[in-house]
Amino acid sequence: MHRRTKPTLTWADVTPRDVFMNRRSVIAGLAATGAMTLAGRPADAVSAAPSKFSTDEPKNTFEEITSYNNFYEFGPDKADPKKYSKAMTTDPWSVEIAGLVDKPGTYDLADVMKDQPLEERIYRLRCVEAWSMVIPWIGFELSGLLNRVGVQPGAKYVAFETLYRPDEMRGQRMPILKWPYVEGLRLDEAMHPLTIMATGLYGDEMPNQNGAPIRLVVPWKYGFKSIKSVVKITLTEDEPPTSWNIANPREYGFYSNVNPKVDHARWSQATERRIGGGLFSKKRPTLMFNGYADEVSGLYEGMDLTKDI
Ligand code: MTE
Repeated sequence: MHRRTKPTLTWADVTPRDVFMNRRSVIAGLAATGAMTLAGRPADAVSAAPSKFSTDEPKNTFEEITSYNNFYEFGPDKADPKKYSKAMTTDPWSVEIAGLVDKPGTYDLADVMKDQPLEERIYRLRCVEAWSMVIPWIGFELSGLLNRVGVQPGAKYVAFETLYRPDEMRGQRMPILKWPYVEGLRLDEAMHPLTIMATGLYGDEMPNQNGAPIRLVVPWKYGFKSIKSVVKITLTEDEPPTSWNIANPREYGFYSNVNPKVDHARWSQATERRIGGGLFSKKRPTLMFNGYADEVSGLYEGMDLTKDI
């Protein structure tokens, strides 16, 4: 497929129809929630219809969110994803839904998004590396999709897989991680209303470096759980393997809930640096469950979170 990049063309001209339709539904979804003005521009600070799950903390800029990334498929440096992810083809895109579901199959992106109400969710993202951002995602609750495909009674976990395409993802030609990147959630975590499949940010479609065209966002867990560019979702009975746990089981557990009291093997998790605050900005305290304790602590009742890391 060739790429047309002449600046005189309109956005729709240079955008594959699927993505365009996707963007249109993004906008339609936002207009429906009132988070978008009629001119199709994101309403300032979503004051029109704030999601009860959104934070009102200052958002990171689009530039910060799209130029300081972890997406090891494109290399280990924070600048690599922006530099190299243009090579990833995101149209056509399909997601295979497999395992313990009533309607397994390969769904194209439009079908995955069908009837799922899109919302803007302004979430904190806390990376395990002790930095954080505030990101205005656009997405839909994963529970909506899971309910639509019908979760069977035996299912206890949800496994996710990222695109494996080494010819487009240069990092996959290096042994940084075992490819493809995989992640997983317990079924109740996956069904929680805070857990979304994000298809955009800042009122527009998802940039490649942030996990286009569809990625998971689980705001109370370290960022590496929020797997990008998802091509497969499998309902399983057993706890699925996860990439960072495979790479270093001593340092990365399955749960990986943000927890200021449980340090990483090599650094403290008690504080974090907000990206964009400047090199000498004060570190801020890390909050239990990244500030979402009221919503999610019930999921972990009876568990010892210093052991089940
Ligand atoms: N998903 C894939 N497939 N590959 C990755 O390397 N990095 C994770 C997560 N999802 C990663 C991934 C990490 S460590 C973080 S902090 C977040 O993506 C970063 O998301 P962002 O770049 O959109 O801020």
